[in-house]
Formats: sequence, C-alpha cells, structure tokens
Amino acid sequence: MIEPLTILGLESSCDDTAAAVVRVSPNETAHILSSVVYGQEGLHSAFGGVVPEIAARAHAEKLDLCVKQALIEADCSFGSLDAVAVTAGPGLIGGVMSGVMCAKGISAGTGLPLIAVNHLAGHALTPRLTDNVAYPYLMLLVSGGHCQILIVHGCDSFTRLGGTIDDAPGEAFDKTARLLGLPRPGGPAVEREADLGNPASYKFPRPLLDREGCDMSFSGLKTALLRTRDQVIKENGGLKPLDRANLCAGFQTAITDVLVEKTRRALDIYLPTAGRNPGFAVAGGVAANKTIRAGLETICKETGTAFFAPPIALCTDNAAMIAFAGAELFVAGQRNDMTLAARPRWPLDRSRPALLGSGKKGAKA
Ligand code: KG4
Ligand code: ZN
Repeated sequence: MIEPLTILGLESSCDDTAAAVVRVSPNETAHILSSVVYGQEGLHSAFGGVVPEIAARAHAEKLDLCVKQALIEADCSFGSLDAVAVTAGPGLIGGVMSGVMCAKGISAGTGLPLIAVNHLAGHALTPRLTDNVAYPYLMLLVSGGHCQILIVHGCDSFTRLGGTIDDAPGEAFDKTARLLGLPRPGGPAVEREADLGNPASYKFPRPLLDREGCDMSFSGLKTALLRTRDQVIKENGGLKPLDRANLCAGFQTAITDVLVEKTRRALDIYLPTAGRNPGFAVAGGVAANKTIRAGLETICKETGTAFFAPPIALCTDNAAMIAFAGAELFVAGQRNDMTLAARPRWPLDRSRPALLGSGKKGAKA
C-alpha cells in the first residue's frame, strides 16, 4: 500500500444500518473518520426476533441518510474517497440487497470502485483495524448471530476450525434471560444475575465437549435451563431471587467452559503454525462478558498467545469494519462490478461445508 486510502463502508446485513469512512495508511493503525449506526431494536422488539421484511425496508429508508451523515462527520465528499465497500453477505437477503443496491448506485454515480465484503470477514479483520494484529491470528467470533473459530491467514484466507451447529451463544443468553423473566438484552442481564449466584448450585451440560474438534452446540443448554427452572418452581413453589442468580451463574459457567475448552483445542491446532508472535482475538457482543473474557485471557496467557479484544462498539455490527476489510481487499486487487449479487450464505472458509447454525438474526454461513 503506497498512498493512504479513504474508503466508505456500508453495512445492512441484519438489524443495524451503518455507514463509515475509514482511512488506511501503510504500516499505521487505521483511522476511523466516522462510524454511524442506526439500530432497529425498537422495530423488532415486539416480535421476539428480527423480522426480515421490516429490517429490509428500514435499511432502504436509512442507508442514504447514514451515508450522508458518515461523509459529513468524516468531513469528506465522494470526491475524496478511493472506493465504496459494502457487505454483500451473509445475512438477511433483503437487507443485504438494500446495501448492495445503494453501493452500486454510489459507484455508478461517482465512478468509485465497488468492493464486496463478507460480513464475517469484517468481524474477523477487526483486530487489524483496532490493533494492527499480524497474520496469522486465531479469532473467536461470538455474538447473537455468529459463533465461529477461525485462523485468519489474510483478508481473503480463513480456516474455520469450528462453529455452532445450532444456536449462537448470545442467542442462548437471550433465551435464558427470557425464560427467567430478565430484561433485554439478555446477555448483560444474565451476567448481572450470575455475579450474585453460585455457579455450583446447578449443574448444566457442557454440550459437545465429549466430542473431538471445535464445533459447538448451545441449544441443549437452554432446554436444560428450562427443565431445571421448572423443577425449582415445582419444588419451591416459585423462583426466588437467589434461585434465579444461581441458575444464571450455572448457565454462564457452562457456556464459558465450552468456549474456553474449544478455544484451547483451536490454539493447539493454530500455535504450531503461528510463527513467533501468536495472537488470539475475541469479537462479538458476547465478548463483553467478563467471565468469558477472563477464561479466554487465561488460556492465552498459559500458551504465550497475545490476547486482543476490540472495543465493544467495534465488536458489534458496524460499517467501519466493512470499510477496513474493503481497504485490505482493494489493496489485494479486488474490484467488483454491477453484476455483484447479494448472498444470504457466504462461508469464509470455502473448503468447509456451510455451518447449519442459524441464530435468531437469520441464517449465517
Ligand atoms: O454482536 P452483537 O451486538 O449482535 C449480533 O448478534 O450480531 O451481539 C449481541 C449479543 C446478544 O445476544 C447479547 O445478549 C449478547 O451479545 N451479549 C452478551 C453480553 N453483552 C451482550 N452476552 C453475554 N454477556 C454479556 N455481557
Ligand atoms: Zn455481525
């Protein structure tokens, strides 16, 4: 990379409409000149999950406003940009199409090169945006819609070591919160309760730990929690605050144990190939959980692996990560044209079959 690049990024694959401008200079940590995110939480809260049609319409309404605001905040015009990068999948197809059409319109109207970005690559490359982490590094992506362990070799080169075969961990936290009458978002509410409880009071399963490899499963944990809750209610005539705290603590410890053990196995595969400065990064909303983060940090320390956790605003869906991934792909020579199609599924590791896990936020690869 010779000149600094200024890239506009667009994101609309789930329930956040986002635009950002990022400047990337050779051998320097990138600068986020602006990052605008319009969440859609209020539009979907009555339905218990994201409604794809409502999401797509809201993206189509908000994208151009988002772009305008991102350019104003970055003090940029289209003329000062080098390219427009857009999430072209995986995600809810209506939303992805809204973003791709908006980016194509900008590209056709301004002549800016168009760069298609895999949403998961955006998340996976975030440690480079925030900390300039060197390739290859190990990445655990854990949110309400994603759960994958990847070796990141380059901006378009990933080895998926494992992922969830059903629910994502954040989804399990959210369902647990609902089952225990806790407020949304479920993860932070369960964590607050867990801080007051005893993790040993109730024993929950550690799904798939008895099986080799790095794949995970979280839907059985939620069913186990439901059964235990009903048992406690039957025996005690209701759920006391301490019961609830103990259930949360037991559940959180079970999730932590699974994520930590699967990461330990992934490190065993990654470390012999990692070179002298191995690195591990965790991203996604669940990375905010202190117990999970501490467990992951501990195994990194034990194995001499540098630990990275990007700030939460860059772990959750945003367009700065798309602009940054777009910059790396631009430098690698990628250019897309008006035939670019939105993709509902788009596995990062093309050599592995797509994961079946879908998540409350729609099918992901
Ligand atoms: O990355 P994110 O904002 O959105 C996507 O899922 O794409 O992640 C949100 C998820 C929710 O399921 C939320 O409950 C979970 O992350 N989460 C947490 C915590 N904070 C957010 N889970 C556990 N502990 C937390 N402190
Ligand atoms: Zn995401």
